Amino acid sequence: MILKNEKLSDDLFSKLRQEVLAQWPTGRDVDFEEAVKSQKEIPAAKRFSAKLDKADKAGRTLIQPRAGVALPDEHIELLRFLETEGEADLLPTTIDSYTRHNRYKEAEAGVEESRKSNRSLLNGFPAVNHGVALCRKVTSAVKSPVQVRHGTPDARLLAEITLAGGFTSFEGGGVSYNIPYAKEHSLEKTIYDWQYCDRLTGLYEEAGVTINREPFGPLTGTLVPPCISHAVAVLESLLAAAQGVRHLTVGYGQCGNVIQDVAAIKSLRKVTEAYLREHGFDEVVVTTVLHQWMGGFPQDESKAFGVIAWGASAAALAGATKVIVKTPHEAMGVPTKEANAAGLKATRQVVSMLADQSLLNLREVNDEAAVIEEETRAILNSAKELGGGDFALGAVRAFAAGIIDVPFAPSKYNAGKILPARDMNGAVRLLDTGNLPFTDALKKFHKDKLEERGKAERRPVSFQMVVDDIYAIGKGHLVGHPQGR
Ligand code: 5AD
Repeated sequence: MILKNEKLSDDLFSKLRQEVLAQWPTGRDVDFEEAVKSQKEIPAAKRFSAKLDKADKAGRTLIQPRAGVALPDEHIELLRFLETEGEADLLPTTIDSYTRHNRYKEAEAGVEESRKSNRSLLNGFPAVNHGVALCRKVTSAVKSPVQVRHGTPDARLLAEITLAGGFTSFEGGGVSYNIPYAKEHSLEKTIYDWQYCDRLTGLYEEAGVTINREPFGPLTGTLVPPCISHAVAVLESLLAAAQGVRHLTVGYGQCGNVIQDVAAIKSLRKVTEAYLREHGFDEVVVTTVLHQWMGGFPQDESKAFGVIAWGASAAALAGATKVIVKTPHEAMGVPTKEANAAGLKATRQVVSMLADQSLLNLREVNDEAAVIEEETRAILNSAKELGGGDFALGAVRAFAAGIIDVPFAPSKYNAGKILPARDMNGAVRLLDTGNLPFTDALKKFHKDKLEERGKAERRPVSFQMVVDDIYAIGKGHLVGHPQGR
């Protein structure tokens, strides 16, 4: 395999497709021509891309939960509850962990045990095991568009079955579903496998069916500087576009400082569009998503609502096209449907109240956005150079060289050299820039911001700040000041 950011040939795709569809018996039920026909019968109101476009034009922020249980009827009941009681605009189908690891036999056992015990014994919906017909039953049972949300390094069969099953959006990417999720999977292989998913999406697109694709923005969800998640989002957008994807939602996990969060969403859209245009993808539509706080949550439900509301505020003030919503059960595990709806309603209230306010044109926001953009461009341009002009190869080499580096990632293909910590205002900065290809001026910017904090806290800038910041939200703070404040 020689990795290249080029459209997979029809011959290669067909050859791979035979292998992919043979991975589990339900693969036999995928009939692409028939699937295209079935997709075309889905009305615009239930198509993910159309609903995002409409919200984007109107300047509205849509709300979307995460949710998935083992059995189709219970899953339908859950989704219906979230769209009626929870007022969700967009629906998810969160896939269980066995399916994410291609362990379909164990998923099957989970389905059987769930049937026997009358409760979900899987932490999501095993779409591959249920197959095309049951996926269609789910997607046609609700009024809103439904997206597949997961965390799967090799999602090829899952994509085949769910897109044939009427889902109109598919989350993930070869970097964002590898580096934060896996230890041993080679980046070269996951990028290659995701080129398949994107090519499949491209084939639907060429047949007249728009499928939204969403690279997973938050990565490890822990003190990820915006330039890192932006670089991954842009890379995955370029990789997807090369396979024929035409509708993208790029994402970012809330860091907690509102200026930085608004600047991140603003620069994310701008940089993604710029790179797509610069590389000849003029027709690709770009929307954005902000993920409410992805780090540790308070156990106390009222306090959790506080965190949820702050995420909702950041999304609304940044004009994100959608916001992914947390629940008051976040610290405990998979939420009940009532807790899930409660998180949605809190978010709905805040997003609606802030619909007429924006911080996008604030001077501080523009200054911060300019820094993020410069950093992101430095990383992307180095990656492109390392790949000899090719972004697929460049991505692999950039990770090997630490040019892109995700904090706290389990993957052995990630350098793990950078160290993030918050500055005095809670914005995420870098205490150690590792091998990031930053100019001296950028390095100094980060150093100065953290020294300012060290001075105020009367302690040296050190790893202890990182540790204190990681635990801060759970203790009721954003910045891990030693005195708490
Ligand atoms: N239902 C609801 N939320 C889920 N998450 C994972 N699986 C499910 C599920 N089946 C949520 C976690 C965390 C995020 C990464 O996904 O609670 O918020």
